[in-house]
Amino acid sequence: MKQLYENYTKEDLDVWKILFERQIENLKNKASKDYLQALDEMQSVLNASKLPNFEEINQWFTNKTGWSIVCVPGLIPVDDFFELLAEKKFPSSTWLRSMEKLDYLEEPDMFHDVFGHIPLLSQNEYSDFIHQFGKLGKSMILQEEKLQMLQRLYWFTIEFGLIRETSN
Ligand SMILES: [Fe+2]
Repeated sequence: MKQLYENYTKEDLDVWKILFERQIENLKNKASKDYLQALDEMQSVLNASKLPNFEEINQWFTNKTGWSIVCVPGLIPVDDFFELLAEKKFPSSTWLRSMEKLDYLEEPDMFHDVFGHIPLLSQNEYSDFIHQFGKLGKSMILQEEKLQMLQRLYWFTIEFGLIRETSN
């Protein structure tokens, strides 16, 4: 799968801009320092006025932690997910929600994946942690029960951006 950047519409861009600006406002005094710093560092490739271009973002990451975005159609099986993380690849959807569905989606779209998950991968400590987590998951692919526990651990902490910082 590939991101067909030229196929995005004016509505996609409008949706992206609204979501981005709204969330930046919402994050003030709430989000982790590392996350906010990552957003700041990524400004040239991740901002409100332009839909994210995966090629550009991947290029940007080559000089940082070496992660790359891989296009997927939506949620993927857990073993595929851990295998990707073990290779420093993060899955992302390429489609964007419509203007009528700004507030809630059942499946992750590009805003969820790129705005929510990608920035922290540029921070060394977080990058190492997720990489190791992926390798651990990959090593447990044939052990169904352990894999499920690891999946739940991921889902109820990392997925929701749970981070403990010393200052708060
Ligand atoms: Fe997610």
